[in-house]
Amino acid sequence: MRIVLLGAPGAGKGTQAEVISREKNIPTISTGNIIRDALKSGSELGKKARKYIEAGHLVPDDIVIDIIRERLSRPDCKDGFILDGFPRTIPQAEELERMGVHIDRVIEIDVDDEVIARRMSGRRVCPSCGTSYHIEHKQPKKRDVCDNCGDTLVQREDDRPETVRERLRVYHEQTAPLKNYYADRNKLYVVKGQEDVNDTIRLTLAALKS
Ligand code: AP5
Repeated sequence: MRIVLLGAPGAGKGTQAEVISREKNIPTISTGNIIRDALKSGSELGKKARKYIEAGHLVPDDIVIDIIRERLSRPDCKDGFILDGFPRTIPQAEELERMGVHIDRVIEIDVDDEVIARRMSGRRVCPSCGTSYHIEHKQPKKRDVCDNCGDTLVQREDDRPETVRERLRVYHEQTAPLKNYYADRNKLYVVKGQEDVNDTIRLTLAALKS
């Protein structure tokens, strides 16, 4: 199954992707995580992406498309995958089609902007393995320590309130039009993001079965 997760920054795409990946035994491809790894390693990609990420803007389409083309060519994608954070613009979706990638379902996680702003301020992430936590809704077993790898959790640079506001603006302008794009192709399923993560998980898994 080839799945796209759509939704505003902080809507919970990564959280749902983790569950679907386990349930369906398919990999998650998060362009955000790939770019953050590149920032950390100081690679050429990281150098190019830094100024966009820090401003809360999208990285240019050609850079992200190259990342996806390479990632989807790997053997672990042959039985399906979850795209978390790609496509994010209409040209990215069109390019995916041109690559011959057939998407089965697009799940939009719909959450109000005010809720998003609250969630992002409580998010903590593991700088080593990328696992995401929340200070109220998804706490690690030991405070500020990653359950998976034991590294100390941090707040993402782009989770600062002013950057979050800019990311939401960019989302409404450049990414939200993808809802109609996929609705026109009969692929869009909307899941209303709930306050409790487990309720959202239940709705997402139901949407995948319908
Ligand atoms: P990316 O990492 O994709 O950021 P994003 O879309 O802004 O999404 P987030 O990772 O911030 O949030 P999420 O929806 O995964 O939420 P999460 O599950 O963590 O991209 C970062 C940057 O990279 C972009 O700004 C851009 O510059 C660049 N980029 C990436 N892809 C690109 C592309 N295709 N084109 C161009 N540029 C690109 O949840 C958030 C928090 O809420 C967590 O703490 C979680 O525990 C909590 N939570 C989740 N669900 C619930 C719930 N139901 N109830 C309560 N709490 C919840």
